[in-house]
Amino acid sequence: MKSSKTGCIGILTSGGDCPGLNAAIRGVAKAALAHGIKVVGILDGFRGLAENRTIPLVDLAVSGILTHGGTILGTSRDKPHKMLMGEQIMDMTGPAVKNARRLGIECLVCLGGGGTQKNALHLLKEGGLNVMTLPKTIDNDVAFTDISFGFDTALSIATEAIDRLHTTATSHHRMIICEIMGHTAGWLALGAGIAGGADVIMIPEIPYDLEVVAAHLLERRRSGKRFSIIAVAEGAVSKTEAARIRGSNKKALEKKAAQRDRELLKMIRKLPGRETTQELHVVQEPMASRLARQIQYQTGIEVRLTSLGHVQRGGTPTPTDRLLCTRLGTTAAELLFRGVYNVMVAVQGAECVPVPLEKVAGKVKLVPPDHAWLRSAKLVGTCLGDEL
Ligand code: F6P
Repeated sequence: MKSSKTGCIGILTSGGDCPGLNAAIRGVAKAALAHGIKVVGILDGFRGLAENRTIPLVDLAVSGILTHGGTILGTSRDKPHKMLMGEQIMDMTGPAVKNARRLGIECLVCLGGGGTQKNALHLLKEGGLNVMTLPKTIDNDVAFTDISFGFDTALSIATEAIDRLHTTATSHHRMIICEIMGHTAGWLALGAGIAGGADVIMIPEIPYDLEVVAAHLLERRRSGKRFSIIAVAEGAVSKTEAARIRGSNKKALEKKAAQRDRELLKMIRKLPGRETTQELHVVQEPMASRLARQIQYQTGIEVRLTSLGHVQRGGTPTPTDRLLCTRLGTTAAELLFRGVYNVMVAVQGAECVPVPLEKVAGKVKLVPPDHAWLRSAKLVGTCLGDEL
């Protein structure tokens, strides 16, 4: 029997959590252990690596977790090269790589979305650490893979929410806006909107015109349909906002907003008993609140808003996600056995295949303007906010 080219791996989960992370950890770990590879679990993403917090992932530790939501390893949005340590933001690349080496880790398997691909590539380029990634995100926006795990579960949750909103909207003859996650990519809002039969779907890739949306909703009323469901992605913007963003120095605006947030959070940390090493973010109101007020103003029809938020990321994964995670995880272990590193394990067609991480990192998969889902949505009379 051939022996494994890899003796020991580390696994971490990074970025926003999603259903399927435990199934993927289990898939990698069980198959790696079966190939004679030692597995170290790193806690709380890249922060745990920098702070040397680990657990041994023996068979018993990954047993019985297939159906569990969340991640047994914990996660964080920390970047190795920009980590809040006490009061200071520090580059922790050196300590992270040193810890990995001391633990005997020959390849670090990172389960995460777009940010994680970039952070993993950073560890490879700046620290010479071998890495491998698995595409995880409910946003489904990781490039070079047909699908990311977590998306199918979130799609089911968001679709069920729209179904439920339909019955109450119908009873009260109301319009209900359902805000769905997705800051830059609209896959989830578009998919759930089509599956749930939303009357209007608004996604970041297609800036909307409020007058077009209002006219569509009023036309539905006139034709005797006394309710409407509007599925809107968190990142949907109007045509005017899109033009303003295009014309502005986006980076400078973001920097200014981040600075404002940092000052507010610094103030919070100074209050007695509020010390924390966790990166804090300013709590935002649902993005669609303003949109809900505007639509009510434009149409004179009663509007309600439901923001699904983190419900979309919680709970047990669907069978499709469990299957996907197990396929991705076990393929990762087979590649590690053969000594294939510095790739993302992607889904392309019916296969799980390695794609060089260098190709993937920094790219985002958005909904293309000619995508078949958009065509289908239009053909069943759904308004996408851009034209009547
Ligand atoms: O990365 C996935 C995602 O679910 C986005 O769609 C969402 O905007 C974001 O995470 C929010 O995550 P958190 O509240 O954990 O920062």
